[in-house]
Amino acid sequence: MTLEAHVFCTLPEMLASPVSSGIIKRAADAGAIEVHVHDLHALSPDPHHKVDDTPYGGGPGMVLRVDVVAHALEAAFDIPAEQLQERFPVILLTPQGEPFRQPVARALALEETLVFICGRYEGVDERISQHIAGQEISIGDFVLSGGEIAAAVVLEAVARLLPGALGNAESLEEESFAAGRLEYPHYTRPAEYRGWKVPDILTSGDHGRIKSWREEQALVRTRERRPDLLNDK
Ligand code: ADE
Repeated sequence: MTLEAHVFCTLPEMLASPVSSGIIKRAADAGAIEVHVHDLHALSPDPHHKVDDTPYGGGPGMVLRVDVVAHALEAAFDIPAEQLQERFPVILLTPQGEPFRQPVARALALEETLVFICGRYEGVDERISQHIAGQEISIGDFVLSGGEIAAAVVLEAVARLLPGALGNAESLEEESFAAGRLEYPHYTRPAEYRGWKVPDILTSGDHGRIKSWREEQALVRTRERRPDLLNDK
């Protein structure tokens, strides 16, 4: 199955590199994902290809227009924009959205089609979230100038979960958050560098003890750095 991802944004060049390199490219080459980036300026019905306007009620900044977003979606899908969310996830990237976590990535990786709408400038007309987007995602408690990087983050996290993308299914299973905790520390050669030594146990060849050491380290690390992950369950 190929996951079709459509990103609607005002700065498509910001997505050019993320979608043409690394894991997203690998997934695309394997036929697991297709990413289509749509330029809201190019698709704008406005004679000057404007995508934003001043806010009703006054105040600073510009607001992404609902008609521009609806028009672009309808040009791509040929059904009313407000009906798209009944067919597949239509996701607005915004700091006000649901926090993006691994279970959300896992759920999105099961879909056949994903639509992302990236806000830009100071705001997005509220009617986009009221009537068009069925889901809102935030990649963290900070404010970006637009949703493009956020969409790239979500796409990267989803692409690597697609069958055929990663190559090594085992590394998926073991990694942080898959098990609801942080990962154990990793080391590779040289065994000693500038006096910095790899823990003896890892060079002992005792796979049973190595496994328990790693489990223990993962737990200690999670307790120290992210106790919320342990309390969540
Ligand atoms: N757009 C601006 N800031 C964002 C954030 N933190 N997450 C998702 N989209 C955003």
